[in-house]
Amino acid sequence: MKKITIAIDGFSSCGKSTMAKDLAKRIGYVYVDSGAMYRAVTLYAMEHGCFEGEQLDVEKLRTMMKDIHISFQFNPETGKPDTYLNNIKVENRIRSMEVSERVSIVAALDFVRSEMVAQQQVFGKEKGVVMDGRDIGTTVFPDAELKIFLTASPEIRAQRRYDELKAKGQEASFDEILENVKERDYLDQHRDVSPLVKAEDAILLDNSYMTIDQQNEWLMTKYQEVIEN
Ligand code: DC
Repeated sequence: MKKITIAIDGFSSCGKSTMAKDLAKRIGYVYVDSGAMYRAVTLYAMEHGCFEGEQLDVEKLRTMMKDIHISFQFNPETGKPDTYLNNIKVENRIRSMEVSERVSIVAALDFVRSEMVAQQQVFGKEKGVVMDGRDIGTTVFPDAELKIFLTASPEIRAQRRYDELKAKGQEASFDEILENVKERDYLDQHRDVSPLVKAEDAILLDNSYMTIDQQNEWLMTKYQEVIEN
């Protein structure tokens, strides 16, 4: 069967990774969470003195980029890949509020983006990949055969992230999360390099009132339509 590239872009905490991961598992594709890569760079910057509060020393981070190596290893227990930073598992740490509050600043830097995009293109060069992010259908794989642009209301997205953090036993305040979701939407859409924008040929899906099963079935149908054509 022909292999294709599937790009899933959209706003933060929309459930892109759940959707992408489930489809990849079902059709035997590799799943890549590109946001995890920006989060790992942010964690590295935080742990190596590039941040003072939320103030980033851009030049310091620039000199450190060559020391940052990100990889993924499939975790059979969770059924999804764990993120490794210089061979150390950072999957939980990159999801903390501290990282979430700083990642948009790091993801807006051109030298960070060019390095991440190059690595993402290597991950996807054999096709058979489902990648989620903000610029996958526009910049990383503009020729992807199937592109989805996912959205949901900020309140629903904040509630989902709140539930996720609570389930992991992490402290969380709904209001802070909602503020963070809105702020990241703004930063993602207004940055100079690769702002979040729907690719012209992407299919729009608002999943505010859909269950995970419903959105998985919707995506499977879209995949089958492309494969059968
Ligand atoms: O999807 P996420 O919330 O884990 O993404 C973390 C941050 O990384 C988010 O602020 C947007 C940014 N990002 C990006 O700029 N480009 C991508 N392809 C993926 C994520």
